[in-house]
Amino acid sequence: MANSKYEYVKSFEVEDEVMPPNFIVVRIVGRDFRRFSEVHEFEKPNDEKALKLMNQCAIAVLEEFPDVVFSYGYGDEYSFVLRKTSKFYQRRSSKISSVIVSFFSSVYVTKWKEFFPLNELRYPPSFHSRIVCCASIEVIQAYIAWRQKDCHVQNQYNTCFWCLVTKGGKTVMEAQEILKDAKEHDRNELLHQQFHINYNDFNPLFRQGTCFFRTKVEDVVKYNEDGTSVKRLRRKASDFRSENIAGRKFWNEHATLLKELGGFPEDCIKVNLDYIRSFQFESKLMPSTWIVIRIDGCHFHRFSEIHEFDKPNDKQALDLMNLCAAAVLKEFQDIIFSYGVSDEYSFVLKKDSQLYQRRASEIVSAIVSFFSSMYVMKWKDVFPEKELKYPPYFDGRAVCYPSNEILRDYLAWRQVDCHINNQYNTCFWNLVKSGKSKSEAQSYLKGTQAREKNELLHKEFGIDYNMLPLMFRQGSSVFRVETENSSIMENDNSVGKAQTKIVTEYCNIIEQTFWEAHPHLGLAATRCP
Ligand code: GTP
Ligand code: MG
Repeated sequence: MANSKYEYVKSFEVEDEVMPPNFIVVRIVGRDFRRFSEVHEFEKPNDEKALKLMNQCAIAVLEEFPDVVFSYGYGDEYSFVLRKTSKFYQRRSSKISSVIVSFFSSVYVTKWKEFFPLNELRYPPSFHSRIVCCASIEVIQAYIAWRQKDCHVQNQYNTCFWCLVTKGGKTVMEAQEILKDAKEHDRNELLHQQFHINYNDFNPLFRQGTCFFRTKVEDVVKYNEDGTSVKRLRRKASDFRSENIAGRKFWNEHATLLKELGGFPEDCIKVNLDYIRSFQFESKLMPSTWIVIRIDGCHFHRFSEIHEFDKPNDKQALDLMNLCAAAVLKEFQDIIFSYGVSDEYSFVLKKDSQLYQRRASEIVSAIVSFFSSMYVMKWKDVFPEKELKYPPYFDGRAVCYPSNEILRDYLAWRQVDCHINNQYNTCFWNLVKSGKSKSEAQSYLKGTQAREKNELLHKEFGIDYNMLPLMFRQGSSVFRVETENSSIMENDNSVGKAQTKIVTEYCNIIEQTFWEAHPHLGLAATRCP
């Protein structure tokens, strides 16, 4: 398809490939899960159903992505290790980490009712994700040892804390004070003496965390006429627990782990935390630049076929995308504007945004994860007649644009793309509906200009392209507008404060008039005075 003069903006996208032979680990952590667990009344200190739901999501990740060969998790954090030779998304860290967190979030919402049939999911859960780049199998080993130690320390602390508060009658402050300097041994003693609890008898699910990998299992594939079963060996993701996952005894016993990641030559006696932390990938986005987070549906070609979206545009599907985008703007105040078309959405953060100290992976993951959860949560509202057949997911990336002009060119690039694709797809699907095969329609349209396509639509199908719904031709812009000022009291003085609301419009964002009509977006001036 034709290129536009705005294509140059692609050159602002930076490479973020994790070089081989580094191992790629993706760590996801619940975003403000303290609040999430309180609102959803999870049991303290551990809610078994909530943890089992997380474990199911981890298994789903292993089943969806063959490159993920190992996972370890507890509480609200899970790490996923990719096979050493992985070429998943050309080893691009933003893609890998966003796709995994998006899928995890989407599965979490999809499976919620299975685990909490009586509890309503009040708002979309979301997760942060980041890449930890591990230089060797010894680093992987130290990383797992570190996380498992953390699981133990946190769980022991939380168990003591909630015993003191719920059984011991202490206030939160008092319990914190008692535990402030308590060592591991002191905490065990406290549990034993005051509450007659032997910490080591505690459910290993909470004490040890859970790891996941694939093993060969025998599955019944069918039954013969005489009732005997036909079995086949299949690789299936399962959960495992051990006191010491990073120990040679556990690890080197499993053929999959040895093959995909390698064995542990020594036992890991002491973890050097500074050494491990130095492997965490934490790039910050350039200051004083516009940040655009672009998300794009993964394999939406298939997703739209399976869910029988109207061709070339499904109004309900686009409404759902817009609804999620509006929710993202409400959740993240630093986003000033967003533009969506088909299965993609671009979110623009203000130039001086300090969201998550501008850490790229934190911003991208929070947005893509929140969007994915919302998409699944709102599905039934938008498609009451359609079942969601499987959890959809999105990839995400962050790109910085240094000036108003370049940001406007970026948005123009996306809107021109929307127009080019929509015009092509409208012709294509009308030709197919009229009896042409897909390849005939393709060759018919090859090399045609915009004017010829409009003529084709007009002459062959009686369609005036310019009369098609604006939403399809222009894409959707979701942004904040200022409503009238209202006065509020501040320090006994009445001050005017601009109120804002989020709107969805289908308009031309290439022309200057749009930006002049919305001066508060700060993009009307494209040249420095
Ligand atoms: P990746 O993004 O690379 O994973 O591939 P993809 O399959 O998602 O394709 P891409 O993002 O390039 O394009 C989006 C695809 O989603 C389109 O090609 C369509 O097949 C489909 N799609 C998006 N919106 C609609 C819609 O409203 N109706 C229909 N029928 N399909 C849609
Ligand atoms: Mg896509």
